[in-house]
Amino acid sequence: MTAQPTLPKGIEIVPRKFSFRDLDSVPKYWFGGNKGITHLENTFSILIPPGERFFIQSVRNYADRVEDPEFAKLVQAFIQQEGHHTRAHHDFNRHFASHGIGVEREEAYAARVMERAARWLPKKIQLGITVFFEHLTATGAHMLFAAPEIAREIHPEALRFWRWHAAEELEHKAVAFDLLRQVGGGYVTRMVSALIGILWFAPAFAIMARRMIREDPVPATDEMRAQAKAIDALARKLQTPLLLAYFKPSFHPWQQRDEAFLAEFYASPEIA
Ligand SMILES: [Fe+2]
Ligand SMILES: [Fe+2]
Repeated sequence: MTAQPTLPKGIEIVPRKFSFRDLDSVPKYWFGGNKGITHLENTFSILIPPGERFFIQSVRNYADRVEDPEFAKLVQAFIQQEGHHTRAHHDFNRHFASHGIGVEREEAYAARVMERAARWLPKKIQLGITVFFEHLTATGAHMLFAAPEIAREIHPEALRFWRWHAAEELEHKAVAFDLLRQVGGGYVTRMVSALIGILWFAPAFAIMARRMIREDPVPATDEMRAQAKAIDALARKLQTPLLLAYFKPSFHPWQQRDEAFLAEFYASPEIA
């Protein structure tokens, strides 16, 4: 089955290099001053470099099947964006090592989990996992733009970094999806891959997050717990319908219209 690649009018997939202006100013608990939430986000950030290398490879495995030159350009732009994200997250992660967090150990663990997936799982399933995780990252990216009450909890330098990554995730959110369709991956492949992706990576995420939280000698306060609960409730309310939409056979990433968020990002001075 051949499907046309999709990109709404006015949206471009632009690989932009990101440089931190003042990474040293980012505090240990850069998310709301909250220990638990920051460690969860740090876990995500540590998984990103090996995760995005996995995404890039899973797309590269099929890139030579793309005949349409316009779609081939989108695939290359996807690869370049994810390459930039990997490097920027590496710098960000190194910074929280300076706060006494066991980043090197967690990076090595995350890399092992990803390498095993790349070695053992069929290539079509690997691409399906990328499609699923691209949906999860696009959902998180949507939330960052849609919920200013969450964004304002993030330290400004960290927010500039996460907004850049989020905007690019929205721009390229359909590339792996469209590629999977072009190479014959249908609904069953998408669902089986999502299930394998959850079973493979959710335990690793939990192990890493728990280890970093446990090792951190600073006790969590009741105030932190209440704040985490409130943010979690808001995130669930925003994200649950988007996550459930993935399981519809007719799902496509651009059914969630994020053009207005991208227009806002394009107009903002942070990308200059
Ligand atoms: Fe990314
Ligand atoms: Fe991505």
